[in-house]
Amino acid sequence: MTCKILIVYHSQSGNTQKMAQKAAQGAQSIGNVQVFLKRAPEATLEDLLLCHGLVIASPEYFGYMAGLVKDFFDRTYHEARGKKEIFKKPYAVLISAGNDGTGALNHIERICLGYQFKKILAPVVAKGVVDREVLAQCEELGKTIAAGCREGIY
Ligand SMILES: Cc1cc2nc3c(=O)[nH]c(=O)nc-3n(C[C@H](O)[C@H](O)[C@H](O)COP(=O)(O)O)c2cc1C
Repeated sequence: MTCKILIVYHSQSGNTQKMAQKAAQGAQSIGNVQVFLKRAPEATLEDLLLCHGLVIASPEYFGYMAGLVKDFFDRTYHEARGKKEIFKKPYAVLISAGNDGTGALNHIERICLGYQFKKILAPVVAKGVVDREVLAQCEELGKTIAAGCREGIY
């Protein structure tokens, strides 16, 4: 069975997009894995139900996640919650921030608790420039969640 990894992101100036793309590249490098890299407005409830693992990637705006990432949660929460496909779904978070990132991260993690997703990796929180080191961490995160989901270890 092919393992499906969904990466939902928003990005205005490209930083979070670069991080999400690297995570996608990492996940795609694992055999038998199909990656769905989607901008938040295009991501659907069906995507969420069908994936085996989920990465949420958001910039921090005003101490919070991007509005369009919140909109993805708003659109899917009611229908998704309580479904067996959602329970303990493995997830990880990528944040791009100017100098902080904790507000966006905390709010995303709190919402993910509500869905009853399972946090399986430490987040990558980039402060300022998204450099090679950050991108390597994103790639590693993508590889790890994909390999773990494929092997069913979460
Ligand atoms: C409207 C707006 C609000 C922002 N608020 C914060 C903030 O509260 N904390 C922070 O660390 N950075 C803040 N930033 C900086 C962004 O998080 C940072 O530039 C990030 O890399 C943008 O990601 P993107 O290129 O994917 O859009 C803000 C930027 C914008 C445009």
